[in-house]
Amino acid sequence: MAGVRSPFVVVMGHVDVGKTLLLDKIRGTSVAYREPGMITQHIGMSFVPWQAVEKFAGPLVDRLRLRGRIWIPGFLFIDTPGHAAFSNLRKRGGSVADLAILVVDITSGLEDQGVESLKLIQSRGVPFVIAANKLDRIYGWKSVENRPFLFAVEDQEWHAVATLEERIGKLIEELSKFGIEADRYDRVRDFSKQVPIVPTSAVTGEGIADLLLVLAGVSQRFIPKEKLQVGEGPARGVVMEVKEERGLGVVADAIIYDGRLRKGDTIVTAGLEGPKEAKVRMLIMPKPLEEMRDPEDRFMAVEEVKAAAGVRIVADGLEGVVAGAPLLAVWSLQDLPNARRLVGEEISEIKIESD
Ligand code: GTP
Ligand code: MG
Repeated sequence: MAGVRSPFVVVMGHVDVGKTLLLDKIRGTSVAYREPGMITQHIGMSFVPWQAVEKFAGPLVDRLRLRGRIWIPGFLFIDTPGHAAFSNLRKRGGSVADLAILVVDITSGLEDQGVESLKLIQSRGVPFVIAANKLDRIYGWKSVENRPFLFAVEDQEWHAVATLEERIGKLIEELSKFGIEADRYDRVRDFSKQVPIVPTSAVTGEGIADLLLVLAGVSQRFIPKEKLQVGEGPARGVVMEVKEERGLGVVADAIIYDGRLRKGDTIVTAGLEGPKEAKVRMLIMPKPLEEMRDPEDRFMAVEEVKAAAGVRIVADGLEGVVAGAPLLAVWSLQDLPNARRLVGEEISEIKIESD
């Protein structure tokens, strides 16, 4: 039967604004607060279960009146590189996103790849939230580890708050040049018109609770519900990366956004010449953190993965498959021509877009 999957949240922004550190912090805190036995690691993604968020953000959950109102199972975060040379990777990440976080350095504003990311987000029409990171760099800011921003801001000297407001004001002005109306998240009156800005620090963890709760609220209100509905049928996904792995041959790291992928399945994906089949030999996932003894012992083979998931696929026939290609599993030979047709249609759209 159908269920609801976690939304994919792509993290974008200029180089060095703190995207990866922000995710590390989110993952670290969620690992600390999660239920035992939960897999928090995926290939190329981090899964953060809602229960972990609720425990971590406790008092803020009540203040924002969200307790008992969240039905998404959690978030699947996808990191992207900010460097100019990686623009195609950003596009790939953006193509599967249900939601985006645009991370900016609060001390320097939008910057070049920040603008590029913003345009990409706008062109996809996905809802987004702005993390105004490096809050701890605001002159005179008093930090307390992992404190929600709403509580932190009430406990600052006036001059630190004034500096923060000046930075946020500048950011709002910059964003308005791109037709975006934004405001500090606790001042947003209408989330359908204004983009929330959440001040965060990936170093102190301040504002992370706020960011996660705002993401949950925005997810539930603005991601079309059908998009999060998953079935139990053959998998649908996107190839994020294709590479040669020692001892395994060519492997593909993919995101599965619907259905199930099983060992032995035939998948249709695409190379530069068009649709291409491969047969899944092995599916690999990182081990749950508590079972990981050393870095060599990080992965395990699984029989099946269910959406939403990130997985490494070992398959015969992945040579020449391109990153960004769609992936469709077929469970019966008679579905093969249709799957090839669908993949063919999708890649012709991708080609037009990248021209
Ligand atoms: P790319 O992946 O290269 O685009 O960078 P990124 O956005 O992932 O940045 P990353 O997380 O690697 O952080 C870049 C640098 O900024 C590191 O030296 C971090 O320690 C620092 N940094 C990140 N977040 C914060 C923050 O909240 N406060 C402070 N003071 N430094 C931070
Ligand atoms: Mg990074």
